[in-house]
Formats: sequence, structure tokens, C-alpha cells
Amino acid sequence: MSIPKTVPPSTATVPDMDALWMPFTANRQFKAEPRLLVSAEGMHYTTHDGRRVLDGAAGLWCVNAGHGRRRIVEAVAAQVAELDYAPGFQMGHPKAFELASRLIELTGDRMGQVFYTNSGSESVDTALKIAIAYHRARGEGTRTRLIGRERGYHGVGFGGISVGGIGNNRKFFGPLLNGVDHLPHTHDLAHNAFSRGQPAWGAHLADELERIVALHDASTIAAVIVEPVAGSTGVLLPPQGYLQRLREICDKHGILLIFDEVITGFGRLGTPFACDRFDVTPDLITAAKGLTNGTVPMGAVFTRPGIYEAFMQGPEHVIELFHGYTYSGHPLACAAALATLDIYAEEGLLTRGSELAAYWEEAVHGLAGLPHVIDVRNLGLIGAIELAPLPGQPTVRAYRVFNECYRRGVMVRFTGDTIALSPPLIIEKSHIDELVGTLGEVLRDLA
Ligand SMILES: Cc1ncc(COP(=O)(O)O)c(C=O)c1O
Repeated sequence: MSIPKTVPPSTATVPDMDALWMPFTANRQFKAEPRLLVSAEGMHYTTHDGRRVLDGAAGLWCVNAGHGRRRIVEAVAAQVAELDYAPGFQMGHPKAFELASRLIELTGDRMGQVFYTNSGSESVDTALKIAIAYHRARGEGTRTRLIGRERGYHGVGFGGISVGGIGNNRKFFGPLLNGVDHLPHTHDLAHNAFSRGQPAWGAHLADELERIVALHDASTIAAVIVEPVAGSTGVLLPPQGYLQRLREICDKHGILLIFDEVITGFGRLGTPFACDRFDVTPDLITAAKGLTNGTVPMGAVFTRPGIYEAFMQGPEHVIELFHGYTYSGHPLACAAALATLDIYAEEGLLTRGSELAAYWEEAVHGLAGLPHVIDVRNLGLIGAIELAPLPGQPTVRAYRVFNECYRRGVMVRFTGDTIALSPPLIIEKSHIDELVGTLGEVLRDLA
């Protein structure tokens, strides 16, 4: 098969942009000063004006094995030629089953089954639905209430924004789901600023779940969903002991615990999943992003042993779960995921974050003390630099830093007034120096 080795950098000028309504983007600002990416290889993007930009964000926290991986390219190309599509309802194809077995193995058999989706948002809504249906299948149909957390990000479906806790993601969209409550978030700079790794203060905030249980009664609560490490809301780390406490309280009251591992899955914390890092086993895990190295949209919901079995009742000709997507387990996504898992295994990428964590921590904490920096946080290969907002103009300072970094050849993310770093797991120390060095220069220069 002949696949060009690298995509030639485009010499294209900026296209007409009017027809595209861009997601989570300040459309007018972007179109006035576009940032277009035309190719990618390894740790770098190439921009439409021919510049190389170091990827400090793994795209959107998804390109964990770096860009342009030949093995994935070839697997997807071969797959589209061999079997381009197979229905997933009442039909199957071998790679979907092979991948499921590989994924379960990767959880160290903490989990029993995998349900495929096409994105993190779909994984979240799927997990919430499975949780409610699970209780009903066991004769506890009153357990329908869902508990999320303030500042949580669980994608953009109605389920996800209902349990999510980011005001702007919720307030434009009406009454959302009924029967949802929220835990308090755990971010408190008065106690935890400049912590290295997990902050010491805040495990007691998990006890708020007891108050919510007392208010609504456990018999009405289906599940609690949290991100073990929250990314899109500004990189919020779990206080030491917090997740363990949540697990204990959920167990005590028969509530399912869902870990949204859309960003923490596949090596981000130096372990395959966050549940490995924290040694807390949830009942369901939502995943996406790094599953296919960001190449083909795919998500997955993992369920703990016993959940699937609870549905396998009644006449065998009856569908057990009335849920699924046309593209659940798409052959191209499965091929991409299998090739991705091969790369992760062969290159040890799912634990590489642990090896680099100390160097990474030193590097990002070296930014403490620079102008406007009010916190630095890190865990695994995640870093966050929180900036004091410009008075009356939240997010503007962080946007300027992001934009200037991009101009100087480094791509970071910003959310609120926090700069978030989550590079591909193939990153070398020299890249870390460049990434953090450029960010430091920008922070100094914009002071
Ligand atoms: C924790 C978490 N859940 C869900 C999502 C939504 O994923 P997607 O954008 O693939 O729908 C994200 C995306 O960043 C995420 O970080």
C-alpha cells in the first residue's frame, strides 16, 4: 500500500471561514487571527504559514503517542480497504471483540465489559444511562438520581452538562436533567496553592456526599460521577484520600461510582488509568481520546464485573440494553485503537509519565514566582499554571499567554485563567525545557 510518508506542509492561504461554526471557540476572534494546523509529526504541528509548533497539549489531551504514527496510519488504511463499516446492532466484527478483550486486560481485570461510543460525551451519557438501568434491572428502580461535582466537565450531552459543574456549559441550555445534585469542588488555593502532586488538604470534602445522601435518601441515588483529575475545568487535583473516601461512602450506600477518565485514561498520570494511580476501583469508567491516539473518534465505557451480568436476564431473544450508536465499535476506530495499544505497550508509554514526573514537576514549578502566577499544579504528565485574572476581564490574560506561546512555537491550552499542559507521552526532557521555557518567557514578557 502506498501511503505518503509525511503530509507535505500546505502552502494554502487561509480559506474562507464564514461557513464553519467552530466548537468551543471565540469564532470572531479566531477568524480575525486564525491558527490553522496543516500537518503533524511526533511532538510537532506544522501551521499553515509553515511554522513548527511544539504540541504541549497532545492536541486536546488525546494524542498520547505523538503525531503521525505510521502503525496507526497503516492499520486504519488497511481496515478501510478490508471492512469499511459493519453494523454493531445484531451484527459484529472480530476486531471489536479483540479490542474489548485487550482493554479489559489493560484494566488488570478491574473491569469486566466494554461498551463502545464515539466520544467522551457519549461515554458519559452512556455510563449514566447504564447506571440507572442497572439499578432498575436489579429491582431498585427508584435509584435514578445522579450526583456530579461543581466545576466538573463531563462533555456536552444533556447528561454530561447536567452532572457537570461549569456554569457557562449549563446556563444557556434550559432546565437540563431532573434529579441531579452536585458535590462541592475541591479547588482551594488558600489551602493548596503550589502543592506538588496531590494536595494534602480537602479529603473531608468527600463527606459532603453523606449530606446529599441524607437529603435525598440513598434509595433515590443511582451514581456519583467525578473526574479523578479534572482537566477542562482548570486542572483540579484530588486531595489525598478524597477518592478513597468517595468510594467508601458509595459502597456504604449502594451507589455506583463513575470515574470519568476521558483525559486520565491511557497513561496521562503515569499509569494506564487513574484508578491504578489512586488504587480506587470505580464501578464504571468512561474513556475516549487516548484510546485511538486521537486519530479516529472513539469512546468506551468500562463496567465492573457484575454489571453486565445484571442485565443478562429474561428471554434470550430480547435486547438487554436499549442503547447504542451507529458507529459503536466502528472498524476504523477499532483498528486505530488496536494499533494504538500496540504502540503504548511496545514503547512503555502508559507508565512513561511516572518516569518523567519528577523532571516535569521541577520544570513546571520553576514557573512559580513569575508575574501573575497564583498557583502551579502537577500530577503525572499534567501541569497547570493559574494566573491572576485581569481585573474585570476573566480569561483574557490566559488567552494572551496561549496566543503568544503559539506565536513563539509552543501550543498550550487555556481554560479560564489557567494554562494547562498535557503533552504527548513521548515527550523528551529537551521538549519539556522548550515548552516550559517558552511559557516562562511569555509570562515574563506579558507582565
Ligand atoms: C473528563 C472529560 N469528560 C468528557 C469529555 C468530553 O469528551 P468529548 O469532547 O470527546 O465528547 C472531556 C473532554 O475534554 C473530558 O475532559
